Amino acid sequence: MAHSFLEMVEMVGLSTDWSNLTDEQQSLIADLVENGQHHLFAGWDAPGTADDEKAAFLASLEKINANYPGGLVGYIANARKLLAEAKTGANPFEGFTPEQPEKVDLNTFDATMEHYEAIGAKQFDKVGVVLVAGGLGERLGYNGIKLDIAVEVLECTTYLKHYADNLLAMQARSESQRPVPFIIMVSQDTGPKTRESLEANDYFGLEKEQVHILQQELVPAIADNDGALALNKKYELILKPHGHGDIHMLLHTSGVAAKLQREGIEYLMFIQDTNGPSFNTLPAAVGVSVEKGYDFNSLAINRIPGEAVGGLAKLVGNGKELTINVEYNQLDPLLRATISPEGDVPNEEGFSVFPGNCNTLLIRVASYVRILEASQGIIAEFVNPKYTDDTKSAFKKPTRLETMMQDLPKLFGESEKVGVTIFSRMWSFSPNKNNIADAAAKVASGGPADAGATAESDFYAACRKRLEVAGAKVETAEEIKILGVPFTLGPKVILRPSFAMTLAEGREKISGVSISDRATLILDGKDIVLKDVELTGRSGLIVKACDGAKVTVSGSTIDNEGFKLVELTEEEMGPGGDAPEYIKIRGYRFEDRGAALYEFDEPGEYEVEA
Ligand code: UTP
Repeated sequence: MAHSFLEMVEMVGLSTDWSNLTDEQQSLIADLVENGQHHLFAGWDAPGTADDEKAAFLASLEKINANYPGGLVGYIANARKLLAEAKTGANPFEGFTPEQPEKVDLNTFDATMEHYEAIGAKQFDKVGVVLVAGGLGERLGYNGIKLDIAVEVLECTTYLKHYADNLLAMQARSESQRPVPFIIMVSQDTGPKTRESLEANDYFGLEKEQVHILQQELVPAIADNDGALALNKKYELILKPHGHGDIHMLLHTSGVAAKLQREGIEYLMFIQDTNGPSFNTLPAAVGVSVEKGYDFNSLAINRIPGEAVGGLAKLVGNGKELTINVEYNQLDPLLRATISPEGDVPNEEGFSVFPGNCNTLLIRVASYVRILEASQGIIAEFVNPKYTDDTKSAFKKPTRLETMMQDLPKLFGESEKVGVTIFSRMWSFSPNKNNIADAAAKVASGGPADAGATAESDFYAACRKRLEVAGAKVETAEEIKILGVPFTLGPKVILRPSFAMTLAEGREKISGVSISDRATLILDGKDIVLKDVELTGRSGLIVKACDGAKVTVSGSTIDNEGFKLVELTEEEMGPGGDAPEYIKIRGYRFEDRGAALYEFDEPGEYEVEA
């Protein structure tokens, strides 16, 4: 401390400020100076000048120091270590050989899937859901939070409502009916609007106490290989996001993970902000984790070699075995250097043997809490500086440490078991990440659009699949392109989670149904039964039943004008167009031309003959 103080007095101005600082501030400054951060305090104005800026600067340092486990000194030490490794170009996979991960393939919607769903459905009151929603969504460029975007525009259900509906459906099906914990990670960019949305909608029917909002904070940018914190200007740090891996740190430091464990929660399902189909996979994924004893279950899709999505691989070597996500740009060189001179090659079905990571994770709470305690929740940080030249001595712009939530298994030991569960793509992974122009360009180059229209199209496709599994005759329409982004015209089917969460439930409630390629069917309610119903042409049928309303629709042919897709004109798409932004990001809307609507908001038994 004495040494630091002496150094401090040498600095212009700070010595005269010193006595005005709290003990904590003095000690933090001394620690920072000892750790190579003199520049933060150099050239301080004398007291009386820029006092507010100085106070704000110190407050921001104190805040970061309190939020990051190990404080700012820990952050600087971690940065120096990772930057030194990056400079030597250390290969993180040195000594490892990739192998196929242990996997369960549930692409086929068969008895195996139903077997796992049946196990998982019994665990609904032991599962909590963690939604990471702190991202900026720069690729989508939406003016608002992504959670407020509609996943479908027939009824304009937002992602947040859709997720809440799934939690309500889970708890309605569990014996205890206990509220499913819902943890939402926000950032300072998304926090206020997320809270607003919850408040304005009365928490979408959830209890306020079951929702835990955790806010991730920004971390300081780093200017050089010595870990010097970067300044925007005097008295102002440059701050940057630390990545979605922050969720682990927050679940630890907030005590929420440990609390949920004490309350009997055994699994946490981690989902993203705009991946509508996540909950289709939940029952079966939980079943797989229970039966296989997985501590970490990565939900995945079959991946085409070279596709820009992380590959899940079992890395074997260095006396270890580690099933982990390998970023797609690292996978190919790793394969070439080890088992496959041709890189990532397709199997007989045309897929890579390394499934694509959906970043939907199912983590067993007992092992999770243990690992969080051991690591303080800091999960496999990495740094990705862009150097000015090959000497790797300077950066083009300040960098920062980052974390990704899927990297948790890097901290696993021999006793933790990691597996992969593969689902069909429309059933498990169809995020809305790209604006129309970028999505169209991705499609043109052979990749998935991951846009508003495709997310909606897949939303209906997954519900059509539920109908098919229930024996319905489903005519599927052709795929069209709207502004270069694919959309399947129909039938547009929404089976709300209140209606069915498992394939078996759909089968119990649907028999003898046939639906034409342009028709629309929306079912919302636990006790709706459809028996011998035909939807012809572009017909629309909507049935909504409150709890306790038992509705049977039978022996009917539905014949009306239903919903029509209308593409937006150039004018409507433009800045002057009055369509809401969630419509503009897909380029079409639906017009109700007379769909049949049956709504029951009183308990009772009802027969509908349309
Ligand atoms: P994305 O890859 O979609 O990133 O994040 P993003 O930051 O939201 O969007 P771009 O890259 O700017 O276009 C995957 C998930 O992780 C969350 C996102 O909200 C999304 O659910 N996320 C991302 C966080 O919660 N925090 C972060 O710091 C970054």
